[in-house]
Amino acid sequence: MEKRIHLLPGDGIGPEVIEQAKNVLSAIATKYKHIFSFSSGLIGAASIDAHGVPLTGETIEDCKNSDAILLGAIGDPKYDNDPNATVRPEQGLLKLRKSLDLYCNVRPVKAYKALSELSNFKAQVIENVDMVILRELTGGIYFGQKEKGESAASDLCIYHDYEINRICKLGFELAQKRSNKLCLVDKANVLESSRLWRKLFQKMAENYPDVEVDYLFIDNAAMQLILNPAQFDVIVTSNMFGDILSDEASVLAGSLGLLPSSSIGTFGKLYEPVHGSFPQAKGKDIANPIATILSAAIMLKDMNLEEEASDIEQAVNYCISNNILTKELNPDNPYTGSEVSSFIISNIGEQIISKEFA
Ligand code: IPM
Ligand code: MN
Repeated sequence: MEKRIHLLPGDGIGPEVIEQAKNVLSAIATKYKHIFSFSSGLIGAASIDAHGVPLTGETIEDCKNSDAILLGAIGDPKYDNDPNATVRPEQGLLKLRKSLDLYCNVRPVKAYKALSELSNFKAQVIENVDMVILRELTGGIYFGQKEKGESAASDLCIYHDYEINRICKLGFELAQKRSNKLCLVDKANVLESSRLWRKLFQKMAENYPDVEVDYLFIDNAAMQLILNPAQFDVIVTSNMFGDILSDEASVLAGSLGLLPSSSIGTFGKLYEPVHGSFPQAKGKDIANPIATILSAAIMLKDMNLEEEASDIEQAVNYCISNNILTKELNPDNPYTGSEVSSFIISNIGEQIISKEFA
């Protein structure tokens, strides 16, 4: 099989984790005799430095002409504390999401048994945690009209019916593939936009009588997520609520460095780790590449390369259970990011029994 994969390494640790995920994909290509042709482009601060803008039209075209996009991370501290900056790295990501109409961000979260010791949670709380957060990604408060004055500023949270319906549909379909449970998270006791979500969601639920639905207000959901996370299976929610909830949920997994994501859209598919650019770690080879490697595995699954994806997932599980992990998860005996990815590569497609890591 031949696939064109466009890499957008971005900022901070982005380039390192993308390189490592690319190596894993090349190992898969060799094993299965696929041809993955990689191209790459700039986004975020890297693009601002080179072109003065966080994303060029040419890069958007390159993305549209590829079969999949693998993105590293975006953000640079030099822009964070300057409220007057008019050009920001994050605008590149938002523009890309909008240009490709990447309306559904899929964020799976599961807790690894092998890491339960390290978790901030009691083992019985995170046991059986295995959920997927579907975050609306191209609407809501992120993209509504913005106004900026000297003494007041506003961000409009607007949702259209079609934007709600298309992601809720994916929510119901995913629930059917998993355990038939779907929870809508909103703030319908206060927000008109949330009430529209609820109305359309309820109407759609009539078409999926086998799916058990549930509703939670965002404040309660944030609490339930740490009180009893195993109650959740598929959550569907709006852009900003999903942004916050998925960062919170990442703590359940043990590290933000483990969480992959995919974004499904009208004009493309994008795969990226949930974590940010972690500028303090840039160039030190201490960043965890697993989130990006697992994002690449989801990409393969979406290309119907199930066996290939499962090779990666198994190698990652093996890596985690053998404690071949970067500093944040293995402070006493840390491995570098490249060692972690080499270990994963050396176990791709192996009958994983016991293998010394040289
Ligand atoms: C994410 C990030 C982005 C977001 C930022 C970098 C714009 O936090 O992908 O979750 O808020 O969507
Ligand atoms: Mn976020």
